[in-house]
Amino acid sequence: MQRSAERIATISAHLNPSAYQMEDGVGLSQANCRAKGGSPGFKVAILGAAGGIGQPLAMLMKMNPLVSVLHLYDVANTPGVTADISHMDTGAVVRGFLGPQQLEDALTGMDLVIIPAGVPRKPGMTRDDLFNINAGIVKTLCEGIAKCCPKAIVNIISNPVNSTVPIAAEVFKMAGTFDPRRLLGVTMLDVVRANTFVAEVLGLDPREVDVPVVGGHAGVTILPLLSQIKPPCSFTPAETEYLTSRIQNGGTEVVEAKAGAGSATLSMAYAAVKFADACLHGLRGDASIVECAFVSSQACVTELPFFASRVRLGRNGVEEIYPLGPLNEYERSGLEKAKKELATSIHKGVTFVNK
Ligand SMILES: NC(=O)c1ccc[n+]([C@@H]2O[C@H](COP(=O)([O-])OP(=O)(O)OC[C@H]3O[C@@H](n4cnc5c(N)ncnc54)[C@H](O)[C@@H]3O)[C@@H](O)[C@H]2O)c1
Repeated sequence: MQRSAERIATISAHLNPSAYQMEDGVGLSQANCRAKGGSPGFKVAILGAAGGIGQPLAMLMKMNPLVSVLHLYDVANTPGVTADISHMDTGAVVRGFLGPQQLEDALTGMDLVIIPAGVPRKPGMTRDDLFNINAGIVKTLCEGIAKCCPKAIVNIISNPVNSTVPIAAEVFKMAGTFDPRRLLGVTMLDVVRANTFVAEVLGLDPREVDVPVVGGHAGVTILPLLSQIKPPCSFTPAETEYLTSRIQNGGTEVVEAKAGAGSATLSMAYAAVKFADACLHGLRGDASIVECAFVSSQACVTELPFFASRVRLGRNGVEEIYPLGPLNEYERSGLEKAKKELATSIHKGVTFVNK
């Protein structure tokens, strides 16, 4: 009878985070953390989990066999999303956390934290127009990370990524926890779009195409390196112009099609999971995991402190940052435009925290 009551209490704890048994106030108890699927996996938190990106992202992460514990945090609607996702018969244990008073419980013990919290664009807006709201949200969430899981890998999706990643870095520096290897801005959607659009032009399966996209994640800072595509291919000047412009404006294409109902959510959730999965494979110690990401490149790629480029992921996050490689004249001129805008966005993020 006693045992049956304990079992039921453990199950209902999924939906009622305040009922969790905490060990010494840090970390969740062994029983609550075990993965039903068997093998021990990674603990992942999604902050902004009830949003347009957060919900499909939570669903896809629940399907990831590398995840043993999935924490869903938001300031609204997490109980419903958690109840829904928790019925999926996959291995990860899911728990919901609602509101700032539960942020620390949501973050404690996490290996990977993914942040899609914040407002999305409406038609006519640039990503920078989101700065005033999203900067504060990212700052607060990163203060929580510095306190509760300073060793976690952090994937930042909230826009403007070109500024929110520098904001996160400044918060971590102030807390004394900054490790440039563990902070990554998610630019994977630009790569996903580039692979798709290039495959359309070449008449290939997008899964066979690999387009490096460097720079940042907004307008002209999104710089596809069409000269370095695998498999090797060439384009006419008109094709290069069309592809570059479509990749740079892919987000706006979706914002306009959604006509006020938000920005890319489903393709973004797909891209975020592709990227998070690469981070988890790196954490597991798999070899040769290379993806593009906006990272603290310590001025080793360009003179800028942050830049998106190909990076190798490993047990500590970013293990190696690759140089840009040979650029053609079109790309060199694009790089100059990208650097100019990036410098302003990075400065804006740094100043926001230090004001
Ligand atoms: N990096 C990229 O490629 C990319 C692509 C698309 C969208 N985005 C960005 O992702 C963000 C989210 O987009 P969306 O469409 O999911 O928006 P959304 O409005 O549908 O969802 C955002 C969620 O964040 C939550 N939230 C707000 N403040 C919060 C806080 N302080 N703590 C925790 N959660 C909070 C909201 O309650 C909501 O559930 C936007 O900033 C958008 O611009 C990035």
